[in-house]
Amino acid sequence: MAAAGEKGGSRPGWRSLGVSLVLLAALCQGSSVERKIYVSLNSTAPCVRLLNATHQIGCQSSRNGDTGVIHVVEKEEDLSWVLETGPNPPYMVLLEGNLFTRDTLLKFKESSRISGIAVMYAKPPPPEGFSLDLPCPNDGFGVYTDVHGPQYSHCNGTLWNPLGSGMSYEDFQFPIFLLQDENETEVIKQCYRDHNIPENDTAPKYPLCAMQLISPMHAVTSTVTCMRRNSIQMSFSINPEAVCDSLAGYNVWSTVKPVNNTATMAPEDQVVVSAARLDGRSFFWNLAPAAESTVSSLVTQLAAAEAIHKMADSQTLPRNIMFAFFQGEVFDYIGSSRMVYDMEKGRFPVRLNNIHSFVELSQVALRNSSVLWIHTDPISRSNESLNAEVEQMIAALKTSSRDTNVTLQEVGQSQALPPASFQRFLRARNIPGVVLTDHRATYRNMYYNSMYDMAASINVSYPSGLSKEEALNYITDTAQSLSEVATVLAKTLYQLAGGKDGAEIKVDVKSVTRMLYGFLVMSNNSWFQSIIRSDWKGHLEDKPPQYYVTATSMGNKPTPNPPTSFLISVLANLTGQVVNYTKEECQSPDKANDPKRELYEYLWVQGPLDDNSTTRAPYCVRSTLRSHLAESPAFELNEWDSKEYSTWTESRWKEIRARIFLVPSHELEVITLVVGIVVLLVSFGATYFINSKAAILFTSTQDGDAGAY
Ligand SMILES: *[C@@H]1O[C@H](CO)[C@@H](O)[C@H](O)[C@H]1NC(C)=O
Ligand SMILES: *[C@@H]1O[C@H](CO)[C@@H](O)[C@H](O)[C@H]1NC(C)=O
Ligand SMILES: *[C@@H]1O[C@H](CO)[C@@H](O)[C@H](O)[C@H]1NC(C)=O
Ligand SMILES: *[C@@H]1O[C@H](CO)[C@@H](O)[C@H](O)[C@H]1NC(C)=O
Ligand SMILES: *[C@@H]1O[C@H](CO)[C@@H](O)[C@H](O)[C@H]1NC(C)=O
Ligand SMILES: *[C@@H]1O[C@H](CO)[C@@H](O)[C@H](O)[C@H]1NC(C)=O
Ligand SMILES: *[C@@H]1O[C@H](CO)[C@@H](O)[C@H](O)[C@H]1NC(C)=O
Ligand SMILES: *[C@@H]1O[C@H](CO)[C@@H](O)[C@H](O)[C@H]1NC(C)=O
Ligand SMILES: *[C@@H]1O[C@H](CO)[C@@H](O)[C@H](O)[C@H]1NC(C)=O
Ligand SMILES: *[C@@H]1O[C@H](CO)[C@@H](O)[C@H](O)[C@H]1NC(C)=O
Ligand SMILES: *[C@@H]1O[C@H](CO)[C@@H](O)[C@H](O)[C@H]1NC(C)=O
Repeated sequence: MAAAGEKGGSRPGWRSLGVSLVLLAALCQGSSVERKIYVSLNSTAPCVRLLNATHQIGCQSSRNGDTGVIHVVEKEEDLSWVLETGPNPPYMVLLEGNLFTRDTLLKFKESSRISGIAVMYAKPPPPEGFSLDLPCPNDGFGVYTDVHGPQYSHCNGTLWNPLGSGMSYEDFQFPIFLLQDENETEVIKQCYRDHNIPENDTAPKYPLCAMQLISPMHAVTSTVTCMRRNSIQMSFSINPEAVCDSLAGYNVWSTVKPVNNTATMAPEDQVVVSAARLDGRSFFWNLAPAAESTVSSLVTQLAAAEAIHKMADSQTLPRNIMFAFFQGEVFDYIGSSRMVYDMEKGRFPVRLNNIHSFVELSQVALRNSSVLWIHTDPISRSNESLNAEVEQMIAALKTSSRDTNVTLQEVGQSQALPPASFQRFLRARNIPGVVLTDHRATYRNMYYNSMYDMAASINVSYPSGLSKEEALNYITDTAQSLSEVATVLAKTLYQLAGGKDGAEIKVDVKSVTRMLYGFLVMSNNSWFQSIIRSDWKGHLEDKPPQYYVTATSMGNKPTPNPPTSFLISVLANLTGQVVNYTKEECQSPDKANDPKRELYEYLWVQGPLDDNSTTRAPYCVRSTLRSHLAESPAFELNEWDSKEYSTWTESRWKEIRARIFLVPSHELEVITLVVGIVVLLVSFGATYFINSKAAILFTSTQDGDAGAY
């Protein structure tokens, strides 16, 4: 099945490597055998193949992996060795992070002398900025199209991400891995220094240090092609094996006043929606620290939700407030498009016409002299009644920012909305709404959708020498700044929901502090440990969560990825109540005799450590939060070539590995192979001879035996 996906021009020299190495081991003896042992690389992130309606992007190796002699490329001048002069192609390039640019990759793509790339982190991150996404993210799937607002489509007027190289959307026919551990990188470099350094520009001597990157991909061409293959497999194969899976996960949403999940809301009920996104990406699989692009707004919205839930009159506000976190938004708005679709189909408790207004937080951590920008949609505002409602929202925002360190400013009314989930709602219906960001036009985020959008890029850093527990509670300037934004958001939502102007709403900067630590630095902290749902405790890690949306096989429910499970646990803790349920009641509330159980979700959480620090005291938390399947409607509709909905799928693969080892010279290899073949032929001959003479060779003894009787 996967044959069509295999790389055409494989490297013949390496084909026989496995065989010859084994034979070589047999030929040579003692210490030389030892030196041919593989060292596997344990901390790498691969680039994998993704597909949409029309294209394939990402990377793949040939079926058994690609191998090449390692060459370290740290400066422009080193490129000529691998591209032109080096005598031992193909090369595996160990690429310095600052050279990981579109220009370099295009040179590698055109060269037949490159078998793969292992990228090192640039330290510090490139100061001029680095983004792997497109200059115009999510183009074509928002509200501006060639039909609707063509003057704003294709980022005409405002290019949001000018630093974007678009590398994440290129197709590569060789493997590219990121080396995530400096010590491992050092092991490779040492092997290179010991064996491969060209002396005075002459060829280094064998054996040479080589690397093998293995990441063959099953799916090819496009989602249309791979989905067709999937369905053929499903109908005709006894052992169906899909070749690609849709990108999918869960949206998370909750309301201030509980909503009956099995009914639909009355038409007169109104909801103020507050939205943020829940995912990010980079070039590499499952690598997306997404600090500014996602975590800044995620944490801010969580803090606002906590503050509003604490208000005494939150349950009696004239309008309800819904907090939504959308999944898969970087892949053409998977989560928001699914929610809008379900709202239109009446499969969601809230309908589109229940939405009173919409406030979305986009990137908010990098405010310049405290300014927060208000973006609105010029097209829907041309309707006077809607424009009036938007003006009211802006007025509410401005009164909410009194006495805070946030200065609200409107961008010009002729500017389009930046990429935002709100665009998917506007696509379906004109709703008054605003998008709040720290940028007026182009992103202030210099590392949008790259591996450098880390805690440090939004100034979340800690004095050295702090223990984990101290760092968890260490209030950074960023925590302070995001708390201010959260205060403005909470006050605005409260006002829009009909609460009285001037109410005292306090955002807890300690919550923001702990969330920033958990969502950006280390999920395995004492707070997350005590609030995580018991069966998700395996998601906690001593490193930052990654916000890449997961893939799910058709028709199966995805499992929440780690950041989603953290979000659910935190949201439940901040907005829920502890209830006196046993574990059984909590996990299947139908058994509990609660008349209001349709209104809530229950979470059985690990609980805090006991006094003696050995056992935990688990408990049950009741909250209004829900998760909502975020898979593109294109897959439910079987419209794999949809232009309306996201069509992104991820190829399946059998294995992904990387390793280094020493290779003997080409000549030696050939000799080994020839010897091997000779040995093989001799043994074939011997077998044939023995077989053909078997009668003579064996019957005589048998006869002898028989004669003994
Ligand atoms: C699929 O992705 C490619 C590469 O980014 C893009 O050029 C193309 O327009 C996309 N196709 C659709 C239907 O969105
Ligand atoms: C790398 O090596 C240094 C010194 O040998 C050690 O202190 C450090 O913990 C190692 N780092 C990792 C990530 O293993
Ligand atoms: C990866 O792990 C294996 C097994 O634990 C170990 O032998 C190998 O040395 C590690 N690789 C590196 C580069 O440290
Ligand atoms: C490399 O060149 C330098 C100076 O030209 C010379 O001293 C040295 O011996 C050369 N090394 C080798 C291995 O040829
Ligand atoms: C982040 O910190 C650096 C140095 O401490 C400072 O120059 C910069 O202005 C800060 N950025 C923000 C957005 O606070
Ligand atoms: C403006 O929008 C309202 C609903 O928001 C609609 O009833 C009205 O017809 C629209 N007016 C025009 C001129 O389109
Ligand atoms: C999480 O932290 C605890 C200590 O707080 C430690 O015992 C445990 O091994 C850590 N888990 C992981 C997966 O690192
Ligand atoms: C939330 O977490 C804190 C700290 O672990 C705990 O004291 C509190 O009871 C929790 N609240 C809920 C509703 O789970
Ligand atoms: C919780 O439930 C237990 C057993 O059902 C009961 O004994 C206890 O009084 C309850 N506590 C509260 C606070 O309702
Ligand atoms: C929720 O809605 C269902 C179906 O409409 C209804 O049977 C149930 O009583 C409602 N629950 C509550 C608590 O209102
Ligand atoms: C720790 O305390 C819990 C209850 O507080 C008790 O059940 C458990 O036996 C204690 N464990 C030890 C090792 O003392």
